Amino acid sequence: MKSTKILKSYNELSSTVANIVEEQITKNPLTKLALPTGSTPLGLYDELVKRKLDWSLVITFNLDVYLMNVKHPQSYQTYMRKNLFEKTNIYPDHSHFPFRPFSAFEDKIEKSMGIDLCILGIGSNGHIAFNEPGSSFDSRTRVVELSEQTIEDNSRFFDSIDDVPKQAITMGLGTIMESKKIVLMVNGDHKLNILNVAMNGEVTEDVPASILQNHENVEVYYCE
Ligand code: PGA
Repeated sequence: MKSTKILKSYNELSSTVANIVEEQITKNPLTKLALPTGSTPLGLYDELVKRKLDWSLVITFNLDVYLMNVKHPQSYQTYMRKNLFEKTNIYPDHSHFPFRPFSAFEDKIEKSMGIDLCILGIGSNGHIAFNEPGSSFDSRTRVVELSEQTIEDNSRFFDSIDDVPKQAITMGLGTIMESKKIVLMVNGDHKLNILNVAMNGEVTEDVPASILQNHENVEVYYCE
């Protein structure tokens, strides 16, 4: 069972996780990060930008991307550029999104000596990255079909639910679990129930985030 640290506000959630990222990058300028998208990490990215850290040696791997035109305003490539990459001194060559062949993407992570710090959010159905319920705990980077729940949840970012991509590429649960340290950020009481199920319930592929119970170095932060 993993203990969850409850924070008073979204600002505190963002600054607490920014402290962890800052400490990691300061301690090891060659840090490899796995990074999430979605609404939860927006405050974290704002906070990291404000801190003007030196990203010149940092390497990033995004957790997932929609299968869509990368130039689309809602692509995760656009999201990362707008919210973090354009506002830091990270080298464009150092930021990676899952790419084909997926074995080459996995090799890239492995050859860079693995992910030091992986920041995650959780979906309302218990997904982490786009590993939807039923994903194998051994899964690696691959194409996935998004669940109806995820499509509905993410429709708030699009003009219509029909515009939400139906497929994505995601790092696998096996890939994520090899990270040396994992931080799970959870924002909002609508996520409290699934968080509780994931952290205190059975470890089952029906609740992908429950695999985190088996990781030795996970921190969970929640705010209402
Ligand atoms: P959210 O998404 O931060 O937009 O709630 C989290 C997720 O689906 O992993």
